[in-house]
Amino acid sequence: MSRKLLLEHAEIPGITTYEVYRRQGGYRAVEKALKEMTPESVLDEVKISGLRGRGGAGFPTGMKWSFLAKPEGIPRYLLCNADESEPGTFKDRLLMERLPHLLIEGMIASAYALGCRTAYIYIRGEYKWIVKTLERAIAEAYANGWLGERILGTDFSFDLHVTPGAGAYICGEETALIESLEGKRGNPRLKPPFPAVSGLWNSPTLVNNVESLCAVVPIVNEGGEAFSAIGIGRSTGTKLISACGNINKPGVYEIELGLPVEEFIYSDEYCGGIKNGKQLKAVVPGGSSVPILPAHLILKTAAGEDRLMSYESLAEGGFVSGSMLGSGGFIVYDEDQCIVRNTWNFSRFYHHESCGQCSPCREGTGWLEKVLHRLEHGHGRMHDIDLLVDISKKIEGNTICPLGDAAAWPVASAVRHFRDEFEWHVREPQLSQQRNFGLAREAVAV
Ligand SMILES: Cc1cc2nc3c(=O)[nH]c(=O)nc-3n(C[C@H](O)[C@H](O)[C@H](O)COP(=O)(O)O)c2cc1C
Repeated sequence: MSRKLLLEHAEIPGITTYEVYRRQGGYRAVEKALKEMTPESVLDEVKISGLRGRGGAGFPTGMKWSFLAKPEGIPRYLLCNADESEPGTFKDRLLMERLPHLLIEGMIASAYALGCRTAYIYIRGEYKWIVKTLERAIAEAYANGWLGERILGTDFSFDLHVTPGAGAYICGEETALIESLEGKRGNPRLKPPFPAVSGLWNSPTLVNNVESLCAVVPIVNEGGEAFSAIGIGRSTGTKLISACGNINKPGVYEIELGLPVEEFIYSDEYCGGIKNGKQLKAVVPGGSSVPILPAHLILKTAAGEDRLMSYESLAEGGFVSGSMLGSGGFIVYDEDQCIVRNTWNFSRFYHHESCGQCSPCREGTGWLEKVLHRLEHGHGRMHDIDLLVDISKKIEGNTICPLGDAAAWPVASAVRHFRDEFEWHVREPQLSQQRNFGLAREAVAV
């Protein structure tokens, strides 16, 4: 049974309310940080914990915090990235729905460490009902003295606001988020300068994911070493995984990093195996932006070792035979799923969500969608398959922000691992359009 650092109290009735949360030991981390620790020692604990950003990139949180510029007389901002628009990723939603006070507590302790007086939770517009949950919890935190002026009688004052976006995936990219928060169109900024130096209203700004900020609570309570003792190698602590697709038990699971992928998919504690007794075909392990892996490569690395749920193990083999942990959106496909249709579906998303600033992304995502559409709809040509690879290469690395890479990697990896399926779509244009890909292929084989 995995230890639960974040979701331990998630099932307790009434846990969204201050009263119940406090009764479960809530806000202990703020008391400890403000009364027993200096901002520097909170930062040290986060460094010791080895926590890596849970928003997708996995950058060490303590190191990122230490980059925050601290010029005299200029405000610093803490931003919580609750945009969560990556297909397959729905873990922050659970944290905010069930444990709004955990996020508030994590943000207070983080703001104390960083010397921020003001913070914003930037939340995707579609999470309307969660905005209300957060606002209610923030009002309770103010009423009970955890937010506002001179918290717990110390010199530390802190204000927290919730700002809903208007429903654009690009606004999850940290500089686009900042633009949006400033009231502008959410176009990513060129870096440098990095937000830690010049972010919101040109002030030093720290952007962290919801889960990263929540993880600060157990780190302060139990110490960085206790957190780093969980997990494997540089993948420390627990991680929320949102599992979906053709599995028996879709949902959000808190796992200890280092859990074998096979156990995650087949054990009753987690996904409970593939639905309807079907065979596992492929997995996208870290949200729609990461490379897809066929069954044999998601269960074992190319070297034959067990694949683990960790940053390093999922990346083992690079993009030839590996993928990424990303945001933890774990999408499972059974034998009946069509990889071409699925890849086209992702491409439609990225084309729609490209902000259009960079030509390779604006034009390239459109071409990917167009070529995949004709392959899926029976008008594809054999050389379209290499065309997809070529377009992907021309997008990758040639854009201001990683949305271009995110659009290119799923396509390039789908062709790499499932080329025969793309070819089959050209050879069997009528059959390939059937919804049940497994049955359609069987029909030809018979
Ligand atoms: C197109 C795009 C969308 C993103 N969406 C999110 C998101 O919804 N939530 C998130 O935390 N990070 C998202 N990120 C990553 C953020 O830019 C940033 O790395 C992250 O919020 C940093 O927090 P962390 O260090 O705690 O992970 C996105 C990045 C890109 C390129």
